[in-house]
Amino acid sequence: MSFLSSFARVARTLRPAANRRFSSTLATQASRKSYRSLVWGGGFGVAAYLALSSNQVIWHISSMNMFSETLSVDPATSIAFPTTMRIPSNLKLHPLSLIGIGVRTVSFLGVKVYSIGFYADLSNPNLKIPLDLSPEEKIDHIIRNTACVIRIVPTRNTSYTHLRDAFMRAMNARLSTGYKEGTVSEDTAMMVASPLRTLKGLFPNSPLNKHVPLDIFLAAPIPNKQRPLVFRDLGSIESDWLATEFVLNYFDKAGPSPPLKASVFDKIKSFSK
Ligand SMILES: *[C@@H]1O[C@H](CO)[C@@H](O)[C@H](O)[C@H]1NC(C)=O
Repeated sequence: MSFLSSFARVARTLRPAANRRFSSTLATQASRKSYRSLVWGGGFGVAAYLALSSNQVIWHISSMNMFSETLSVDPATSIAFPTTMRIPSNLKLHPLSLIGIGVRTVSFLGVKVYSIGFYADLSNPNLKIPLDLSPEEKIDHIIRNTACVIRIVPTRNTSYTHLRDAFMRAMNARLSTGYKEGTVSEDTAMMVASPLRTLKGLFPNSPLNKHVPLDIFLAAPIPNKQRPLVFRDLGSIESDWLATEFVLNYFDKAGPSPPLKASVFDKIKSFSK
């Protein structure tokens, strides 16, 4: 897909009628500062458009380059991941580096359902990572402070609703655990209800085919804005808690892929900044 054709695709999606499907309201602070449209195109590349209506900042991500020089292969599934993802943008997004890969296995059947790749922008100047932090602490800091991508690549035909149900279960579990443990306030729990509903509504009742990646982009924090979490081709949510916790979940004790965690922790052990 050429730059121009992806730009045309983006321009088409900016018509108000097309926008409506992808817009969502901010969970918090009856604010007009909402992300008005955010769409990832299909095809070879990914085109996304993020318009911040409040201050006219336009964040334009076009043709996310999946053809990096080198690939890294998940030995469990033979699915390959580019070691770098480039997202051309007028906001100078840095390339994201592949940190680790791992398979998701349905435990009681031993069936490999998808491979997951975790990417992060490690060049972000806001990262302050001493070498002696634990891998868990380093990943927590990275997710909270810089742009990340989770790429999910199914090993067989599956459905978006299947993934949706897993996402919703995981987020509801984190919410109720956090609430019980006092790390999630009542206010946060209330504010998260709306973006959780938006998340649930993002997924179409259609198949997600074997080897077709689902990319989930967590933008770097933007001061005074809720953080967006963008699902390629589907839409986005904006919620500091939900966007961050969605990615943190992959590194939880009960995360979906122990091999992903091991691979990421191993890689990040020797990283400092
Ligand atoms: C998976 O889906 C694709 C596209 O719908 C179809 O062509 C293919 O036959 C399916 N494969 C299996 C194993 O069902």
